[in-house]
Amino acid sequence: MNKKLLAVLFGSALMLAACGGGDEEATPTNEENGGEVTQSHDAEKIVQAKCSTCHGGNLEGQGNFPALNNVGSRLSEEEILNVIQNGQGGMPANIIEGAEAEVVAEWLSKKK
Ligand code: HEC
Repeated sequence: MNKKLLAVLFGSALMLAACGGGDEEATPTNEENGGEVTQSHDAEKIVQAKCSTCHGGNLEGQGNFPALNNVGSRLSEEEILNVIQNGQGGMPANIIEGAEAEVVAEWLSKKK
């Protein structure tokens, strides 16, 4: 009896492995890559590279350029993303795009 039961279990395990193997590979791999891409965007580095020329090395603002080191107290994450995507006054649109714009908006919205 036990041997028969084992044989059945073993048999179905083999069948599951044989049938399930092919399809499952793509999805988890893509998810892992997606996570890594997002994590590799370092908001502070992006801001230093792309925004500090106008907004100041410590985001303290200068002349006509508003400070960003307290922008989270004035604007929400969504509003900051909106400024980045559409520009505003002397601020050009789309200096950064996509995931970069999103992580930067989130990071800046916490500066209060
Ligand atoms: C070419 C110069 C320039 C660069 C580069 C620049 N900005 Fe600006 N930014 C401005 C100016 C000018 C304003 C003020 C716009 C206005 O309201 O007239 C501004 C305003 C903003 C505001 C709104 C601040 C507030 O208090 O209303 C945010 C947020 C902002 N910038 C984010 C960024 C980010 C993030 C980057 C880098 C991706 C960046 N800026 C790069 C010139 C610049």
